[in-house]
Formats: sequence, C-alpha cells, structure tokens
Amino acid sequence: MEKESDLRAAIGALCRADEAACVEALLPRAGLPRDGELRAGARARRLVETVRLRRREAGGLDAFLTEFGLDTEEGVVLMCLAEAFLRIPDDDTADLLIRDKIGGAEWESHLGASDSLLVNASTWALMLGGRLVRLHEAEGSPPWQLVQKTVARAGEPVIRQAVSQAMRIMSRQFVMGRDIADAISRARDGEAKGARHSYDMLGEAALTAEDAERYFAAYIGAIEALGATAGGESDVFAAPSISVKLSALHPRFEFAKSARLTDELAPRLAALAVAVKKAGIGLTLDAEEAVRLEPTLDMFAAIYGSEAARDWEGFGLVVQAYLKRAPAVIDWLAELARRGGRRIPVRLVKGAYWDSEIKLAQEQGLDGYPVFTRKPATDISYIACAKRLLSMSDLFYPQFATHNARTIATIVELAGEAGEYEFQRLHGMGEALYDALAEEDGVAAPCRVYAPVGAHQDLLPYLVRRLLENGANTSFVNRIADDDAPIADVIRDPAASLGETPYRPHPGIALPGDMFAPERANSGGIDLADPGSVEALLTDIDTALAEEWIARPIVAGDELDGPPTPVRNPSDRRRTVGTAMEAGEGAVRAAL
Ligand code: FAD
Ligand code: 2OP
Repeated sequence: MEKESDLRAAIGALCRADEAACVEALLPRAGLPRDGELRAGARARRLVETVRLRRREAGGLDAFLTEFGLDTEEGVVLMCLAEAFLRIPDDDTADLLIRDKIGGAEWESHLGASDSLLVNASTWALMLGGRLVRLHEAEGSPPWQLVQKTVARAGEPVIRQAVSQAMRIMSRQFVMGRDIADAISRARDGEAKGARHSYDMLGEAALTAEDAERYFAAYIGAIEALGATAGGESDVFAAPSISVKLSALHPRFEFAKSARLTDELAPRLAALAVAVKKAGIGLTLDAEEAVRLEPTLDMFAAIYGSEAARDWEGFGLVVQAYLKRAPAVIDWLAELARRGGRRIPVRLVKGAYWDSEIKLAQEQGLDGYPVFTRKPATDISYIACAKRLLSMSDLFYPQFATHNARTIATIVELAGEAGEYEFQRLHGMGEALYDALAEEDGVAAPCRVYAPVGAHQDLLPYLVRRLLENGANTSFVNRIADDDAPIADVIRDPAASLGETPYRPHPGIALPGDMFAPERANSGGIDLADPGSVEALLTDIDTALAEEWIARPIVAGDELDGPPTPVRNPSDRRRTVGTAMEAGEGAVRAAL
C-alpha cells in the first residue's frame, strides 16, 4: 500500500506531464470487450435517434444554441454579449456594447432556419436591434432616412430591452430558481419521477470577504431549507445534496494562501459539513480551475478526516477527466477512503474550463498544459477513470456527470448489473437523453440534476461555460442538436477517433513555449499553483539569497563605488537582499 503523501505527490508530478505518455498509459485502461463496445455503440445510436426525434417535437434552447453556434459570427457576438451584458450597471454603457456587438452581424441569415419558436423569436429581437443600430450609425444619410434615424434613436431602450430579454431567456433555461424555496418547489415534479437534485447556490471567485460571507449565508439558508423539506431520506446517496465552489467561500482560494485557507476556510467548510450532515443531505465540492485543484484536495482531506464528517458518506468531490492528474487524484482518494473506512461519492466530469486552461497556460508561458488538447483524449481519460471508480465499490459511490450518449452507453456497459452508481445532468440540459435512457432503454440507474439557484448577476460565469459547451462544435450537445451531423460521427468510439498511433497532441495547439515558433520563443513563466514549481522556485530564492548581491555603476567597463543603499525584498521588507551602490556625480561625469 502506498503512503498517502506519496500518492499526493504523484498528483503534482502529473500536472503538465507529457500528453502522449499520459494518453498511451490510459488507452489500455479504457477499453471494453468487443461485444460490450458493440452494445455501447448500439445503445448510443438508439439514444441519439430518440433524442433527435423528441427535440424536433420540443424545440428549445439547444436549437437556439445550434443555430448560433460558435462557428458563426453571430454566435460569437452572442457569446460576447452574454459575457458582458448582464454585469453592465448603466444603460449608456449597455447601449455602447450593443452598438459595438450587434450592429455588424448578419442576424437575418438565421431567420426561419430553425423550427424553434425560441430561435425565431430571439432572432427577430436581435435582427431588429442590429438593423436599428446600423441605421443609427449611418452618417450623412439622405433626408428620408431621418425618420428612420429618429425611430432608431427612440428605439435604443427597446433594443436594450430586447437583448436583455434574450439574455434572461437563456439564463432562465439554466437556473432552477431565483431562491432555494423556488428551486425546491420546481424540483418536486422531477422528484416524483425519481430524479435527485444537487443544489448549487450560484456564486464563485469571491473578490471580497463580504462576498464570501454572503455566499456562505446563502448556503446555510439553503441547507436549512433542504433539511426542512428533504423528508429524512435514510440513504444519503439518494438524498438531495448541495454543490459548493470553494472559491465562493474565500476571496483568496489559491495555493499560495494555503496557510490562510487552513485557518479561515477549513472551519467555514467544516461548519457547512456539520449543517449538511444534520440536514440528512449530501455535500459535493465542485471542481474549478486547474490552479485550484491542490487547495481543493487540501480542504477535502481536512474535512473528510475531521470530526465534522465522521461516520458520514455524504461528503464528495468532483474529479475532472480532462486533467492529466485525474487518475492520480482517484488513486489518492481511494487511499483516503481506505483509511477512513467509508465511501466517497465522486462526481466524474470531463471539465468545464478547457478554453481558459489552454489560454492561461499560453499567457503564462508554462512548460505544458494541465489538460489534454484533443477531445477524444478527455473521453478516454473519462472512461479509464470511470472503470477505476466502478472497480472500487467499497471505496467510492460513482456519480457520472455527462450529457454524452456514447459516454453514458459505455458506463452502462462498464457498470453492468452490479454496483451502486448514479448519473448526473445539468438543469436545462440532457433531460431528453436521460428520459430516453430510462424509458426507451430501460436503464434503471438514478439521475441527479445539478440545480443552480440564484439571481442573474451571479449567473454569468456559469452561463458563459454553458454557452461555450453548447456552442462548441466538438461538444456532444452541439452535435446531437445538429440534424445534419451523421449519427455515426456523433457517437464515434473515442479510441477510434484518435486515429493514428502513437498518440499525438492536437497539431493546432502548440505547447505554450512554442506558440510563436519559429519566430521566437514565448516568455517562460512559473506556475505558482504547482507545489513542485513553487518548491523549486523557493530553493532558487534561498540559493540566491545566500550570496551577497551588490549592484554598482559600470562606466567604460570599470565597476565604480557609490553611496550604498540596502535593497529590501519587496514581498517582505524586513529582509535585505543586497546593496545598491547608487551612481554618484563622479560616475555620471565619467559616463558623460
Ligand atoms: P462532451 O461533449 O463529450 O465533452 C465536452 C468536454 O470535452 C469539454 O467540456 C471538455 O472537458 C472536453 N474537451 C473539449 N474539447 C477538448 C479538447 N480539444 N481537448 C481536450 N478536451 C476537450 N465541470 C467542472 O469543471 N466542474 C464541476 O464541478 C462540474 N460539475 C458538473 C456537474 C454536472 C451534474 C454535470 C452534468 C456537469 C458538470 N461539469 C462540471 C461540467 C462538465 O465538465 C461538462 O458538462 C462536461 O465537460 C461536458 O461533458 P460531456 O460528457 O457532457 O460532453
Ligand atoms: C460549472 O459551474 C457545473 O460546476 C459546473 O460549470
């Protein structure tokens, strides 16, 4: 048995490991026997056929997002609008944004392209807005257009209303309720049909202690409300649960602040855990950006091993399969569960921050990516992790969160008849898919709905992630909604999608250091969220500090003296790191 500290170090070592090596190691662990593979393919096909049929009947947001996918200019415009619009506090700035974003796009080309009422209604609103904006901007237009210009001017608040309405329609799609009472009451119909729910009080990346306090209070309120209505479910896995993003509960939820997090966040999380346990429900820590993985694991371990979680199997964690570290996280969790003597509910997801992970690593010039660069690699990692979770039923309660029919069908094959597990979907997504699985395919595994709760000003980051997911043409939810995409492509076995062996990372995504090659190398950065990099940096700092550094003017190759000034470490002014001999008058004269 490996030591917990070794297993933990193994996680860090994989942070930006060689992608090909990671995928080659995962491939043999992600396979199904040939007949299982065939059955999974057939099930996935049936699911897609049923969902497409039902979708045509229902219309709705997925039709909207397919029409305005991120491969159209209008889709990108909508994305930018959604990203910015909801947080603009004043009307003048909102009007400027609308003018900037909406005016140039060809909304008309989308009109009537879909059967969905939502698509067409929103297209009308956006088209009207776009037309008015263009008119408004037409300089030196003939007099007859004056009338239209006046309309355009009077129409600005109307455009704002229309855009605001379009954004609100999208928000409503993804949010279960404005407050917990609203959400609990909306959940009743689903519960009557056997659905479970995990409530997420919208909010993340708190910037101030007040924000963190507000999110914490929202959670306590939600837990009390759920405790009062949950009806004392004896099986904690079947009970409702709460999903928490730790970045909402502390304004500095980052690796560099580990000591503060132990002192300030851990007690807060313990208080939540105690309240959740008392309410007879479950608690899951969501997975956020890759830089937050280490502090999330610290917090999980601290609470799992504490009095707050004693004898309680309701405390769970999310693992993101797109991380190269995912299999190592599962190994570490297994050891934790083995020592704790009780199961850990693990929600396996692919990961919702892919675009920003790639961008951040490039911006910081890191020596690799924390995530895979090809979608089938993430799918393969997901299956390998799922297999591992299912194989340790004494240590885990696996929760498979996905909207991908092929992934679902593979899990059904892997799980067979034995073992307890559940599926999970996001509110506003995947409903038809899971209905088809239960009704047409007769698969009895329960499904939990992740239910965001809150006001639209807290929705923004969540909404942007959903729009990215729905709009990207690599996403399953995007492909299934596109009737022109052949089913065989939509449900392709990820291993077959990889094509040639050995595995090669995405040819269009150079390593961060090579992104400007061959012209120049990217500037290199240090990942301050990676324990290994930080340790190496601190060693370098200590070595550097052991030397006596003196900076002095050099004139024509001669080192000169000057009045000495101590140079202090800017991050700790008590420490002197060297001496600067400032150039005096003599040095300046010599230089001149
Ligand atoms: P698919 O379309 O099969 O997969 C899409 C995913 O593939 C992308 O999201 C990305 O992860 C990956 N991907 C896309 N392009 C590439 C590429 N070029 N290279 C490598 N990988 C790529 N996400 C979190 O991060 N944290 C959470 O706590 C979390 N909780 C969730 C809870 C629930 C109930 C659900 C349903 C989802 C949750 N998610 C969470 C979101 C989840 O990560 C996304 O919904 C999921 O990634 C989409 O996967 P899929 O299997 O449905 O779709
Ligand atoms: C997200 O917030 C669902 O946790 C996931 O994107």
